Amino acid sequence: MRKKIVAGNWKMNNDLAETEMFLVELKKQVFPENVVVMIAPSFTNLNHAFRSLREHPVKIVAQNMHQSNEGAFTGEISAKMLKSVGTNTVIIGHSERRAYFKEDSAILADKVNTALENEMTAIFCIGEELEDRKKENHFQLIKTQLSEGLFHISDAAWENIIIAYEPVWAIGTGETASPKQAQEMHKFIRKTVAENYTEEIANNVSILYGGSVKPDNASEIFGQEDVDGGLIGGASLKVNSFMEIVNAFEKETGNRT
Ligand code: 13P
Repeated sequence: MRKKIVAGNWKMNNDLAETEMFLVELKKQVFPENVVVMIAPSFTNLNHAFRSLREHPVKIVAQNMHQSNEGAFTGEISAKMLKSVGTNTVIIGHSERRAYFKEDSAILADKVNTALENEMTAIFCIGEELEDRKKENHFQLIKTQLSEGLFHISDAAWENIIIAYEPVWAIGTGETASPKQAQEMHKFIRKTVAENYTEEIANNVSILYGGSVKPDNASEIFGQEDVDGGLIGGASLKVNSFMEIVNAFEKETGNRT
């Protein structure tokens, strides 16, 4: 059965002192048992966060990694390095990596392979620009991103894949996809996985929504049938707003497990 997940992507925010402050507050929280909670600090704070949260049910996630296992790649971080500091999950293909760091589908497919070879879980991000949506090309674009970046993997590898749908026009803009738009795209993504693999694989993969998720809109978005949680940017930087989003499933299901 697919998991409910809320992951905080801190992007290039929070230095060591700010990370420490966040962790002190986070450790005071009670976490719902039915939600997998993740945070993705900067590389420099991964190990600190891992050690600090050792006794807590929060996974530490990397925001990126290099596709090669080692070598002359000044400034880059390998899968092995991430694993050695307590990180088994990595975000791949965030739209900011695609846009600002020119990561194309071929690079992203390599990164997915490297993550899987190293027994890591990949949170694979896809999402259309506003222009694509205006031209009604968004479904085709999502299909292409999936087939070029992800659909080369084996059936078994899907156990280590999480998909994050993040429409670029909704990231950091305050503009969210409506719950209906999110559901429509998540359903399409699941159908596309089913067509290329199996119904079972499609039903078991968690598909997260990202793009201006806030405490006041999270429960409605998470209440959609094919939305299994969120990848949260701005609202994950404060413990209060992050926890309200983590707990948004409760409001949706009406019970705490
Ligand atoms: P915001 O929640 O700040 O819109 O960011 C979403 C995002 O890009 C998460 O990866």
